[in-house]
Amino acid sequence: MELKSDWLKNGFVNEPIEDIENIEEAFLKLKKEKNAVLMAHFYQEDKIQDIADFVGDSLALAQFAAKTDAEIIMVAGVHFMGESAKILSPEKTIIVPDLNAGCSLADSCPPDAFEKFINQYPDHKVVTYVNTSAEIKALSDIVVTSTNAKAIVDSFPENEKLIFGPDRNLGNYINSITGRDMILWDGACHVHEKFSLEKILDIKKENPDAEILAHPECKKQLLMVADHIGSTAALLKYSSDNSSNKYIVATESGIIHQMRLKSPNKTFIPAPPNDSTCACNDCEFMRLNTMSKLYNALKFGWPNIEVKEDIRVKAVKPIERMLEVSDKLGL
Ligand code: 13P
Ligand code: SF4
Repeated sequence: MELKSDWLKNGFVNEPIEDIENIEEAFLKLKKEKNAVLMAHFYQEDKIQDIADFVGDSLALAQFAAKTDAEIIMVAGVHFMGESAKILSPEKTIIVPDLNAGCSLADSCPPDAFEKFINQYPDHKVVTYVNTSAEIKALSDIVVTSTNAKAIVDSFPENEKLIFGPDRNLGNYINSITGRDMILWDGACHVHEKFSLEKILDIKKENPDAEILAHPECKKQLLMVADHIGSTAALLKYSSDNSSNKYIVATESGIIHQMRLKSPNKTFIPAPPNDSTCACNDCEFMRLNTMSKLYNALKFGWPNIEVKEDIRVKAVKPIERMLEVSDKLGL
């Protein structure tokens, strides 16, 4: 199929779909015809989460991608999630709705600079967060997500020297709860670093019965006041299992959709960012995905993810290692 120059320029298929009355229905029909599945991250808009075959955190999405027998996997998330799926299942077609859906954290770790960094510590094992490019994964001994980072770091012998990248906040947090002294790459996610501690504490003052939930990508000062720290899946589970009826949620606001579905009688307050002029507790990369882009991407089979085979064969090992350890630990 010939790719149009404006698709290539835009990074997504921008064909008009005005003649379609119900885009969700049309998408579901096409998905069935093409034997495709749609997996969506918790940070997607509500409509996309509702229509997906599977909704989960980054670990669950990688596990789903490794196991599904569908020929086409549509990834409503960000680029590294599609790349992980392709690394695990090179024979499958992995479609993303918009190539511009990157990740500021993954971008904070350029492969050349990271390679120089790790070469300074040749006796260290390299542990990297899944929010990275395939090239970074290819330089790693094992990949982690925020769901399994503590357990995987704990699985190394106590005297094993470790480098952790790219998220400095997650790395500092894992150091603090494991007693390790991992050397950290200095990267961060712009969404999680923008939450305002001051405004969160003001909300807490007005709602003393509310518990603060925070993703470990948030800054240390915020993690210090949190009642519970965890991955999106862990925060979701805590909010439904725990007896409190009110939560201030310091992670991307998309997760609140699942929290409300699981606990319709509880109150969830999105933590505000320090800049009140923006909606920056929404990840603008995650939010680039829309129903019409999903439909067009599936219809035209583009954008699809490709990973160079020499990089893929190196990158698959640390991801498979992560999946094996997670499996053993029942994560
Ligand atoms: P989870 O692994 O908790 O889903 O986090 C993904 C992410 O991108 C956090 O910003
Ligand atoms: Fe990346 Fe942050 Fe968006 Fe997660 S929220 S995908 S870490 S930019």
